[in-house]
Amino acid sequence: MKKVIGALAVSCVLATAGAVLVRAAGMPLWAYGYVDPPPADSDYSKKCTVQRPVDCARGGTPPDDGRKRTLPGGTGEWTVTEIANDYGPVDWYPGDHPKMPDIVAHGDKARGIRACALCHFPNGTGKPENAPVSGTSVQYFMNQMADFKNGLRHTSDKNKANAWEMPLMAAALTPEEAKQAAEYFAAVKYYPKNKVVEADVIPKFAPNANNLFLPAAGSNKVPLGNRLVEMPDDPDDAQNIRNPHSPFTAYVPPGTLKKGEMLATTGGDGKTIRCDVCHGPGLRGLDPVPAIAGRQASYLARQLYDMQIGTRRGLWSPLMKDVVAKLTEDDMMALAAYVTSLSPQ
Ligand code: HEC
Ligand code: HEC
Repeated sequence: MKKVIGALAVSCVLATAGAVLVRAAGMPLWAYGYVDPPPADSDYSKKCTVQRPVDCARGGTPPDDGRKRTLPGGTGEWTVTEIANDYGPVDWYPGDHPKMPDIVAHGDKARGIRACALCHFPNGTGKPENAPVSGTSVQYFMNQMADFKNGLRHTSDKNKANAWEMPLMAAALTPEEAKQAAEYFAAVKYYPKNKVVEADVIPKFAPNANNLFLPAAGSNKVPLGNRLVEMPDDPDDAQNIRNPHSPFTAYVPPGTLKKGEMLATTGGDGKTIRCDVCHGPGLRGLDPVPAIAGRQASYLARQLYDMQIGTRRGLWSPLMKDVVAKLTEDDMMALAAYVTSLSPQ
């Protein structure tokens, strides 16, 4: 009997190890901002603490040459260090949005909560390596804060430092602060800045420390291959100046948008389920189902993958279970590209 149990235990361990391997091989590297797989020994799920956000951060601020930067129609002039202040990042366009609650504009240094506006920008558009949070419903936003806090939502990438900071911040916020942030971002329209381009060759690029792809200087091109590569059109404007209007392009292989449209609008003969059934006309959201149209493609793809492998399993995630269950990496790329190509308003 002992032997049988022993053999069972061994086969379970092997089965689990096998499953882990399959999953690791399945991570769509392009969605998480990698060209090569991340180092196996990097584990921000343990390293990151909200008391010391610096342990979570890998990106850092760009080298400061002391130069004051400006934007057309933007407020003031600032150095890159001032622009990326953890507890008071620059607000170039205060006319874009209502007055920010203190937690959004400044966070709380004493508790190590960095300003929401740092990563998500004052207008909540965010960038591909974090998340869009504006133009969503209060209920959807609050559901996510609860899921992060209750351990029901985290990234599947142990190396993704900024995503591991999010559950810690959600746990550190008071319910009142979470509500203020939710009401604020729900009142801000999503600013359309993402486009999708089908191409065989694309600008030469490399990931930065936060795994955001950035185009290299010059006019060199590289083959795209079979993946989605999303990057800012102007890396200085997006990264150093942190212009919340800075345009991003997701490059995809020719034919991708048509395939995405087919899957999203027909369900692809049982492969998935038509998205508008739940996400509403134009995929602009239907409380508590989020607005997804026009948002960052790599963010959307990461969510599909995280829901498929189960690290995102919040209160409302079961509704997405049959949508993602059979999707391949190519399907996720096609759906993400198509959804991003739709107008958010
Ligand atoms: C260090 C950067 C950073 C800061 C600061 C930050 N976030 Fe996030 N946030 C992220 C990342 C990265 C994600 C995506 C997580 C994932 O992939 O699961 C995210 C996701 C979210 C989402 C989910 C969006 C969606 O569409 O489901 C919400 C809501 C959110 N953040 C709210 C906040 C609030 C409120 C604050 C301020 C208290 C804040 N964030 C501060 C990086 C940040
Ligand atoms: C049966 C209802 C249903 C259908 C059909 C559906 N969704 Fe969803 N979707 C949801 C719900 C509910 C959520 C929010 C899950 C949560 O709160 O964890 C969601 C969340 C998402 C998210 C995460 C958004 C974010 O901001 O983090 C993406 C991406 C998404 N869906 C894509 C799709 C696509 C693409 C399709 C069509 C192929 C689709 N969904 C079809 C119900 C649905």
